[in-house]
Amino acid sequence: MSLFNFLVSKTIMHVPKPIVSYFAKGYIAGSTLDDAIRVTKELNQQGMMTTIDILGEFITRIDQAVAFKNNGLEILQAIDQHKLNANLSIKPTQMGLTLDKERCFELIHELVAEAKRINNFIRIDMEDIPTTDDTLEFFRKLREEFPGHVGTVLQAYLRRTPQDIIDLADGYQNYRLCKGIYIEPRLHAWKHPQAINRNYVTCLERMFKQGAYVGIATHDESLVFEAMNLVRELGLKPDQYEFQMLLGVDEELRKIIVDNGHRLRIYVPYGQDWLPYSKRRLKENPFIAQHALRQMFGLKKH
Ligand code: FDA
Repeated sequence: MSLFNFLVSKTIMHVPKPIVSYFAKGYIAGSTLDDAIRVTKELNQQGMMTTIDILGEFITRIDQAVAFKNNGLEILQAIDQHKLNANLSIKPTQMGLTLDKERCFELIHELVAEAKRINNFIRIDMEDIPTTDDTLEFFRKLREEFPGHVGTVLQAYLRRTPQDIIDLADGYQNYRLCKGIYIEPRLHAWKHPQAINRNYVTCLERMFKQGAYVGIATHDESLVFEAMNLVRELGLKPDQYEFQMLLGVDEELRKIIVDNGHRLRIYVPYGQDWLPYSKRRLKENPFIAQHALRQMFGLKKH
């Protein structure tokens, strides 16, 4: 870790709101659903799809989870009403996983049922290790009832992921594959960037060969290169996979992906709860601050 990254990750929790706001601005659609709709319309016009995410993770009361579920229903209705090319991403802890697992499942079930009703899709994001088993269990149950309308996320930094992919081969498979953002113990997660990338490619190949639909979520050019190679070698059609990127990150890479005939979905977060989200993202990935500073000074990455 560079000195800059080290300093960002150690001090970020004490940085004043206006400064975090400066760094966070490009990565969040705004504070209201209207902001997410506006950004989605713009991206749709540029040939990209989106997945909308309402910010908020570590809740303390189950009524907050119910409120988030209601927000999720509003998002689905807005997508339907405005005929947007978008779906919804949710976090299990936002739906109360750490408070009441059964109630959490009911809330997610309600969202996926609504997604099926309007022919849309819910992506269940993957959070930290204590939530992995429950998240996969929810996905297993929901895909039985709603195949085609629910997917989850697998993280290439986890040592267990290749086996999870094999274990999940016995049903409808729809995954987002990402490196993983949480700080996990080395006993469970690869730490070396090359090991994570090799595992990413191994997992992606296995998913494709098992017939999974994959959202290839990365801004790492070397992984985009590997994924494009795999797509070509396996003769996949553009509707069998998609690339995924976060709002505000590497618009040049976005263009490369789209111009090469691949589908691309942008993750569009919005909400009032942007401050803790942004601080966590900055702490977990000080690259964000580097990226914002580069933009501020008009510097290129290479
Ligand atoms: P890497 O971190 O090596 O970054 C490659 C390049 O992109 C670097 O140059 C870096 O500076 C730049 N970059 C990466 N992230 C950036 C950012 N936020 N801002 C500015 N520059 C950035 N994780 C998880 O655990 N559970 C989940 O459900 C999801 N969901 C998810 C959805 C989508 C659409 C994406 C793109 C990512 C996630 N993630 C996630 C996060 C993911 O696990 C991972 O932490 C980040 O994408 C960074 O990894 P990269 O593959 O981009 O490579």
